[in-house]
Amino acid sequence: MKPEIDKNKIVIFSGAGISAESGLQTFRDSDGLWNEHAVEDVATPEGWSADPKLVLNFYNERRIQAFQASPNAAHKAIAKLEEKFEVVVITQNIDDLHEKAGSTNVVHVHGQLKFARSSLDDRLLYPLEDKPIHIGDVCEKGSQLRPHVVWFGEQIHNYEIARDHIITASRVLVVGTSLSVFPAAGILKKARFHAEKIIVTLNLEKKPHGFKLLRGKATALVPSIINNWLNV
Ligand code: OAD
Repeated sequence: MKPEIDKNKIVIFSGAGISAESGLQTFRDSDGLWNEHAVEDVATPEGWSADPKLVLNFYNERRIQAFQASPNAAHKAIAKLEEKFEVVVITQNIDDLHEKAGSTNVVHVHGQLKFARSSLDDRLLYPLEDKPIHIGDVCEKGSQLRPHVVWFGEQIHNYEIARDHIITASRVLVVGTSLSVFPAAGILKKARFHAEKIIVTLNLEKKPHGFKLLRGKATALVPSIINNWLNV
């Protein structure tokens, strides 16, 4: 039997589009990162083996940009929801703008730029803030440090935790994602029939079943959806 829906629980599922208006590039838009960099060079274990310096530079640049960025009105509205609801933010983003906005329960499924990780033992994490990782920076076991991010071909983080939250949510708000990367995007299939389900994004090729699509910018649409929820 499925667990009961929790009337007070809201799940936010976010992607790069929510941080676009904070100045961070998305991946698949025309000005996105995957138009400037080959995915296989910078976001796969094979790319890391072939040219670790290139990979480190790519994420070092992402890290400093994310560190300098500020949360926008969409991140802030999501944090405000906690005044009235239990809120879980499931994010594909490797920035920490949800946390900077004040969200207290953020589940990162694709990792976090602000940590380095041992390339030998994935339990060994080291806080970086905005600092770069260089070739020769090693963990306590002596192996090269790598970014704490999920690359294509690697297992996503916190899948079960994210899935279990979405199963019990009475409202699901998806913001700024093309929903083209699996298994992360597949988590939305676990949202319940009776849950209110909304997607805010600029472009979407395939809308998941049962979701209402609102095309527009996150800062224009998310605060008003959230104000409605806070005021019912
Ligand atoms: P994408 O770049 O694939 O999609 C971003 C989405 O945000 C697109 O649908 C845009 O239309 C939309 N968008 C852009 N600006 C927006 C704005 N101001 N307001 C609202 N929506 C906006 O990014 P993700 O879906 O997050 O994974 O990509 C998923 C994963 O692919 C990432 O986590 C990353 C990437 O490869 C890994 O590297 C493993």
